[in-house]
Amino acid sequence: MATDADNAQGKLWGGRFTEQTNQLVEAYTASIGFDQRLAEVDIEGSIAHAKMLGACGIIPDEDARTLVQGLTDLLAAAKAGRLEFRVEDEDIHMNVERLLALRVGAVAGKLHTGRSRNDQVALDMHLYTKRAAETVRQAIRTLQQALVDSAEANFDVIIPGYTHLQRAQPVLFAHHLLAYFWMLSRDADRFADVAKRADKMPLGAGALAGTTFPINRESVMQTLGFASLYENSLDAVSDRDYLVDFLSAASLLMTHLSRLSEELILWSSEEFGFIELADAYCTGSSMMPQKKNPDVPEVVRGKSGRVYGHLMGLLTVLKGLPLAYNKDLQEDKEGLFDTIETVLPALELFAGMIATLEVRRPRLQQAFARDYSNATDVADYLAAKGVPFRTAHEVVGKLVLQAIELGKPLGDLDFSVYQAASEAFESDIYERITPEAVVAARKSRGGTAPEAVRFQLELAKTVLATPGS
Ligand code: ARG
Repeated sequence: MATDADNAQGKLWGGRFTEQTNQLVEAYTASIGFDQRLAEVDIEGSIAHAKMLGACGIIPDEDARTLVQGLTDLLAAAKAGRLEFRVEDEDIHMNVERLLALRVGAVAGKLHTGRSRNDQVALDMHLYTKRAAETVRQAIRTLQQALVDSAEANFDVIIPGYTHLQRAQPVLFAHHLLAYFWMLSRDADRFADVAKRADKMPLGAGALAGTTFPINRESVMQTLGFASLYENSLDAVSDRDYLVDFLSAASLLMTHLSRLSEELILWSSEEFGFIELADAYCTGSSMMPQKKNPDVPEVVRGKSGRVYGHLMGLLTVLKGLPLAYNKDLQEDKEGLFDTIETVLPALELFAGMIATLEVRRPRLQQAFARDYSNATDVADYLAAKGVPFRTAHEVVGKLVLQAIELGKPLGDLDFSVYQAASEAFESDIYERITPEAVVAARKSRGGTAPEAVRFQLELAKTVLATPGS
């Protein structure tokens, strides 16, 4: 029986070659340096394939058993990190096949019956991506839990809310954190959707056109726990849409983390002084002894760029690519792996950072002493007394101008000033415009009043408590 050693190349595909591969070509086109991450899923896929070959009578039962046994041993070795790969074997698929031959001998050559590396790599990537999407989704849930816990622990804290990064209206700190909870909920849903899109079985497509062997794709699909299979062999080996979906979901997730990063960075600055990040999540300066820098959110904000880059990179690889498999598609891997390895630690770090941050309550108590973020409430007060809101807005705008000139907040203006501005003002105006009253008045669903935020917080907890959420 012919083996790879029988050809000049010593390659599994070397039969039609008479010359050795140029070494630079070998090194440049090999993917084993990065696709070794697929070792486990590759072997799992091969076990399912070997079982099916035996069950369908395509190879003798005994051979199938030998293959499955050898592959099972390899899987254990892969899990223990004990497999040794060679660049001459190009990619994970051929490395595994050679390692199998070392264990079970020439029968290893039967494993690739009715299969191509094109459908094999597609299978591996589907399995890998499906699992990675689920892992990311769970890491998102852990961060959401940290946000809920911090919202709960700091429920009474009021912070300035901003639009245009100008003081707008006070909000509960919990309300602000929960805004990120809902963003992340959409991210979690998107990753669940990515897992669904990756839940399609490509094996059996062969190189591009299907196979002459009487294979049973449905049984492989079931063995590997896929929900459905590709109905078109050309599509099966060419489709990388689910990877674009993954990178796109990851990009948006990084966008959200970068927005939270920016706020944590601002809030922990002396100028804002709303929070203090735990020392464990900060670093110092080699020159300035006083520095405590928010490196974690800065690095995460920065790393959003590389994830976007991977999304653009893959879209560009796919653009204009003819059917079916082209080696360009090997470029789908590093960006995906790097994205997973960027996003997962970011989520873990954020969960720890949120859990350990401290709110600077004394600073926040002073935060409203000199601002006008209760001006809307003065206008709403008039409007509730029948003054048209536009008129009220104008009246209060002038009051704010007067207060700025006097160097006082609205709550410190003499009552005579209010009365001169509008007869509708009564002495209860003062109690209506404290930060607590301003927040408490926004009881509308989704608003920042404690009871509305409590309702929201309970909903958030329900999301986290839903089985499989
Ligand atoms: N390493 C390849 C990849 O990642 C596997 C498929 C190779 N197929 C081939 N016909 N060269 O895409």
